[in-house]
Amino acid sequence: MTLVPQIPDTVDRDLLGKEAAEVAATGGLTFYIDDETLTYSVDGSTVRCEVGKDTGATAVRLSRRAWDDLVGQMRTFVGLLLGDELQMERGGFEQLADWEPVLRYRHAGIPPYDPSRADFEGRDPAGAFSVDTDDAELAAQLRVMGYLHVTGVFTTEEMDAANREVDRLALLARPGDDQSWWVTDEDGSPALCRLVYATLRSPQLAALEGDLRVRRLGTLLDPTLAIAPDRMEGTPVLIKVPGRTSGLSNIPWHQDCGTGGHAVFCPAVSVGIQLTGSNAETGNLRVVPGSHGQALKYHWQDRTDVPVVSIDTSPGDVTVHIQDVMHASPRPTGEGQRRTMYVTHYPSALWDHIGPGEALNDLVRNRTEQVADLQRSPSASLPA
Ligand SMILES: [Fe+2]
Repeated sequence: MTLVPQIPDTVDRDLLGKEAAEVAATGGLTFYIDDETLTYSVDGSTVRCEVGKDTGATAVRLSRRAWDDLVGQMRTFVGLLLGDELQMERGGFEQLADWEPVLRYRHAGIPPYDPSRADFEGRDPAGAFSVDTDDAELAAQLRVMGYLHVTGVFTTEEMDAANREVDRLALLARPGDDQSWWVTDEDGSPALCRLVYATLRSPQLAALEGDLRVRRLGTLLDPTLAIAPDRMEGTPVLIKVPGRTSGLSNIPWHQDCGTGGHAVFCPAVSVGIQLTGSNAETGNLRVVPGSHGQALKYHWQDRTDVPVVSIDTSPGDVTVHIQDVMHASPRPTGEGQRRTMYVTHYPSALWDHIGPGEALNDLVRNRTEQVADLQRSPSASLPA
């Protein structure tokens, strides 16, 4: 790979220039890549990339391999920082965050999200669909919004049985066991917030994971997508811990490729089986409709024109989301304890890059305090 790739044919030069003009005040960004130096800067509405120049107000150092991963959409700035593969030489993380959408468009043609360009095709972003809705209609909603809410997919009895299995696995879980995520609760005690690889330890949950109703919803857009129970943390079960927790339970706004892997697993589709149902009190899912396949600007949360939808569900409902739709799981306002089992359907390229037991989240799982620190930067975009 050449050091700096050609601008993809799909890139609208005027749009790239407009986006670049918005980061002009940040100053240039210099990369030290092994023995090479290059600087991105903004000149009017033109992005300049100059090899050998060292004039950026912000500067970072990384290896050629890390650079190729960044350009190839395998790793992000956050992912490289967490892996200790990116050193800040000048400036700070906020400046990198400013530049990231511009560079993702310049390097890979991933367009910046802009609510004024969103087209919902007359659809309701808050719409919920019965399980009897035909596939074409469900697929259209998912394709346009990046997510989908289907009601009454599973019975109360089926969810009760699944919850008994989650209870059993929760009793066996221990901090540091590599099969679960923990946070510190209000009393300072460890609290379980996620089981990972859950279906490898439960034939009952494995049967649910392999149910044809799950497969139907996970393959609405692409019948070749497949589940990966033995990698990428397999099928996890989220458990929302109430109160003010410390760690990774209440995941702020993110895309699931936030630390990397976009080139390998997007547009993967996650089927969220609502074991308990959800609302603001128990913890629910929030999404930015139509944001999938795009990059959101730093501080987008401060804009009032970005639409946000909160999805309330009943036990047995299913949410479906494309993994790079912008989404969040805020702190429950009440008793918490929402449980969702996520069965993700991946493109075949995943199996070429991620082996059994491997996951992008390996960087995150046992370093929750460090990740939580990074999350306090409002631009951090982490997976969950
Ligand atoms: Fe997520």
